[in-house]
Amino acid sequence: MNTTGGFLGLANLAKLRANPFAFLMGLAESQGGVAYFKFGPFVDLYLVTEPEYIREVLVKDWTKTIKWERLTQASNRVAKFNIVFLEGEIWRSQRHLLTPAFHTKRVQDYLNLMGNHTLRFTQRWESGQVYDIRQEMTRLTMGIIGEILFGYQDIHREAAPLSRAIDILLGQFVLDAGSLFVLPKWLPLERSKRERQAKETLVTYLRDVIQCRRTEDLDHGDVLSALILAKDAETGESLTDEQIGDELYSLFVAGHETTALWVCWALYLLAKHPETQTQLHDEISNSSGDIPLLDRVLKETLRMYPPAWSLFMRRVVEDIHVGRHTIPKGSVIYISPYIQHHLAQFWNAPDSFDPSRFEGDWRAKYPPYVYMPFGGGPRVCLGAYLAEMEAKIILQIILTHYEVLLVDPGQSVLMDGGFTLRPYPGLDLRVRERL
Ligand code: HEM
Repeated sequence: MNTTGGFLGLANLAKLRANPFAFLMGLAESQGGVAYFKFGPFVDLYLVTEPEYIREVLVKDWTKTIKWERLTQASNRVAKFNIVFLEGEIWRSQRHLLTPAFHTKRVQDYLNLMGNHTLRFTQRWESGQVYDIRQEMTRLTMGIIGEILFGYQDIHREAAPLSRAIDILLGQFVLDAGSLFVLPKWLPLERSKRERQAKETLVTYLRDVIQCRRTEDLDHGDVLSALILAKDAETGESLTDEQIGDELYSLFVAGHETTALWVCWALYLLAKHPETQTQLHDEISNSSGDIPLLDRVLKETLRMYPPAWSLFMRRVVEDIHVGRHTIPKGSVIYISPYIQHHLAQFWNAPDSFDPSRFEGDWRAKYPPYVYMPFGGGPRVCLGAYLAEMEAKIILQIILTHYEVLLVDPGQSVLMDGGFTLRPYPGLDLRVRERL
C-alpha cells in the first residue's frame, strides 16, 4: 500500500473519506500493529492496532498525548468547555465533578425513568407500521438523557429541531476534522450560516433550561445542579452559564446518539436473525433477573457496529515507544474500535453475527483492546454503564411488546462512518405487536 498517499498525502484523505473501514483495515493488514500513513501534506498519522501498544498509548503513556488540536478546534466552534476535549487540570476537575452522576449506584436511580420513557414512547407505535428506527431511537434516548441531565420530562416537542441542529453541528465537525484546516466561522459561507442557526437553536434551549433552574435555587441532585453548585477548590469560583451550557451540550450529545445507535444496530441484527430474536423474546418473557442472551446480543452488536467507531485522534506531545517502534512527537495517533473488533487474527469470521462469542469467560479469549467499544485509560467513556443499562431496558421493553422485522428480506443497510457509526441510508424496520 502506498502510505505516502500520493501527491501531498491527499489521496489518503480522499480514501479515508470515501471508505474509512476498507482503507484502515487495508493499512492494518499490510503494515501490522503500527501502520504509518500521511494524512494530507502536514500530518503524519499512525494507526495503532496491536492491543498491547494501544494499552501503552491509552494507559501507560496517556500523558504523552492530547486530543488532536484540529478536533479540539472544530469542537470549540460549538462548545469550548467540553469535557471530551478539555485537557490537564480543568479536565481532571470536570471529570471528578461529573463522575458521581454516572456511578453504578446512581445509575440504578435512573432505571425507572428509562423504563417509563421507553414505554410511553413505544406505546405510540402501530402494529404493522414501518418506522425510521434511527430517528425513533434518537428521540427516545434524547428524552432519557434530558431528564437525567437536567430533569426535563418532556423534551419530545423540542426533540426534532434539537436533533436536526445536532446533526448539522456534528456533520460540520466531521468535515472540519477531515479537512486540511478548520475554516474560520466568520467566513460568509452558507455552511457558516447553517451552523450559526443550529448553534443558536441549542444555545437558546440550554440557556432557558439553566435560567429556569437558577430561578428555583434548589439542588435537584442531577447533573445540572452539580454544575451550578460546583466551586473551584482553590479560587472558590463557580462555573459561568456559558461553561455550564457547553458542558450540558457535550454530555447531551455524548449521552444519546451513541446509545440510540447501539439499540438501532441491535434491532437491525435481530430483524435479520429472527431465530435469535425469538429465543431472546422467550428468555425475556421467562426471566425475572439476568438475561444472558440480551447481554451477549448487545455485546456482539457493539463489536460489529461500535457507535464510537474511531477514538478521537491524539497528538503526540512526547515520543512514544511501543515495541520496536517510535511514534514521534508531533505526529497523530489513530485508534479505531471498529478495526480492533474486526481483526481476523483475533476474531473468527469477524463479519458474522455470533453472540456466542461472549459466552462464559470471554475476556480470557479476547484480551483488552481487542474489544474496546468504550475506549480505555483515564479518558474512557464516562457513561458506559449508563449506556449499557439503558440499551438493555429499551431492548427488553421493545422486544416484550413488539416483533421487529426487516421491511423486505433483501433490505440492505450500509455503514456511514462519520462522527458515529450510523446505518446508511437510514434504518426502516416494521414493528408487529405481540399479542
Ligand atoms: C453506546 C454508547 C456509548 C459509546 C459506544 C461510547 C463511547 C465512548 C468512547 C469510545 C469514548 C472515548 C473517546 C476517546 O477516547 O477518544 C467516550 C468518551 C466519553 N463518553 Fe461515551 N459512549 C457511549 C455513551 C455515553 C453516555 C451515555 C455518556 C453520558 C453522558 C457518555 C459520555 C462520555 C464522556 C463524557 C466521554 C469523555 C470522557 C473524558 O474524556 O474524560 N458516553 N465514549
